[in-house]
Amino acid sequence: PAFNLVLRDEVDSTNILARQLIAEGAPDGTLVVAARQTTGRGRQGRVWQSPAGNLYMSLVLRPQSPPGHAAQLSLVVGLAMADAIAALLPQGSGAVPAVKWPNDVLLVRDGVAGKLAGILLESAEDQSGTHVIAGIGANVRVHPGPTDGVFPPAVLAECPGAHHLYPLDVVEAFAPAFAARRAVWARKGLGGLKADWLARAYGLGQMATVRYGATPVTGRLDGIDDDGTLLLAQEDGTIRRLAAGEVVFAKP
Ligand code: BTN
Repeated sequence: PAFNLVLRDEVDSTNILARQLIAEGAPDGTLVVAARQTTGRGRQGRVWQSPAGNLYMSLVLRPQSPPGHAAQLSLVVGLAMADAIAALLPQGSGAVPAVKWPNDVLLVRDGVAGKLAGILLESAEDQSGTHVIAGIGANVRVHPGPTDGVFPPAVLAECPGAHHLYPLDVVEAFAPAFAARRAVWARKGLGGLKADWLARAYGLGQMATVRYGATPVTGRLDGIDDDGTLLLAQEDGTIRRLAAGEVVFAKP
């Protein structure tokens, strides 16, 4: 697969640089990676702490499918990140990656989950159409400090057998994994990735609340459907379908 790799030492945000590069005609597959960010951004206006040692990358994509399907890319990117982490973790590390709908990657160690990576999707318009910027931040070597997320941070290199891993190792594993997942997505849609996504999904069958706007919805996590919508089983047996939101788990 062809990626156009742009490596920087320090940037404000790789998503901002990716947007500038799109304006200058950057091709599909441009992958912007920085060693650190001065104003890393998370979802919902949050700050993404970005010290040296962790991974900050943004991928420029022109989706093959209609623009309305762009949100599915966060599931495709998350699955590819989980693939990459699974490939990097040695046998016997005791840790496994898991995807959390719609755009987080967790690391589960001894049954305890932490947030390893987050994805921030943005769109950028130019005369040739709508591009997607998929920003990915991952805690590879350094604790990012307190976050207000749902899970505490997890750091990849703290896993047994993973001390030698650096951000570029994750880039190297991610690029082919994403190319493979994207090819299936382009051919078959998200339905073609659903079984693999569910196999890596965190918390299926657990009670969860999805926060979205002023009306949180609680139910049992039942999976996703062929377009990436989250399915939440209600007590009365009906299924609520959610297109967006933040999943919070009930305390055990
Ligand atoms: C989240 O809130 O979970 C999403 C975090 C996304 C962080 C990444 S780091 C690379 C890219 N540049 C940014 O400023 N944010 C994203």
